[in-house]
Amino acid sequence: MERITTGIAELDEKVSGGYPKSKTMLITGAPGTGKTIFGLHFLYKGCIDGRKCMLIATEEMPEDILTEAGILGLDLRPYVDSGQLMIDRVLEARTESTKMAAQFGTGFEITEMDILERVQSVPDDVEVVVIDNIGIFALDLSIKEFRNKIDTINYILSGKGCTTVFIMDETAYELTHMLAEYSVYGSIKLMIKDNPYTGMRERYLDIPKMRGTDISLELSVFDITSKGIIFRKPGKKIG
Ligand SMILES: Nc1ncnc2c1ncn2[C@@H]1O[C@H](COP(=O)(O)OP(=O)(O)O)[C@@H](O)[C@H]1O
Ligand SMILES: [Mg+2]
Repeated sequence: MERITTGIAELDEKVSGGYPKSKTMLITGAPGTGKTIFGLHFLYKGCIDGRKCMLIATEEMPEDILTEAGILGLDLRPYVDSGQLMIDRVLEARTESTKMAAQFGTGFEITEMDILERVQSVPDDVEVVVIDNIGIFALDLSIKEFRNKIDTINYILSGKGCTTVFIMDETAYELTHMLAEYSVYGSIKLMIKDNPYTGMRERYLDIPKMRGTDISLELSVFDITSKGIIFRKPGKKIG
């Protein structure tokens, strides 16, 4: 199976070389566990490797995301300027439509349909897609609608040959009975918890599922540093 690098060498090693090409991975976790940063590594390496990339940003202003990436040594701005990295500014569309609804009444809110339109309009030459955070679209759907929608988004992006990362906040993930997990090709869970031996709070990565891939069920430990995500042995903090 062809792979696309995750942008993190140690993670590539754990998953037989990268995320499976033209498939969708899901990254879930509580706020602050590093979901967005995993997405940024994937986009950054995609850009370096000359792939056309797209970020569908439903939760943060693109300027904030680019600043955060820069601090971690992942300078995405030149790629945005050259058009190699496209950013779909969904957060602005959401806030605009919420303001419209406040002014003119209901009917102006952004609907869950929009995500399908946005995914459909991803140009065919885009190879790497990150949707951060897809949980936004889950909130006003029934469980069945959500499953249909996420399967459809998956189908469209795979059909375009995109290797995709869905980032989903834990609340939306649990509210939808973790259904997203069944739809995707593989999933990564991020956690912050106490190491039972040292009592230290540590960042953990778990890969419960990855089709067609020999994965270890052991949890991995990582740090977020000024150089981005770095994996390490438990109990030994870097720096
Ligand atoms: N330069 C940095 N050095 C160390 N840790 C950082 C740095 N930048 C961000 N972080 C850590 O990353 C966390 C945010 O990661 P992020 O990917 O935005 O989380 P999520 O998307 O899961 O909410 C922050 O709460 C902070 O702990
Ligand atoms: Mg985030």
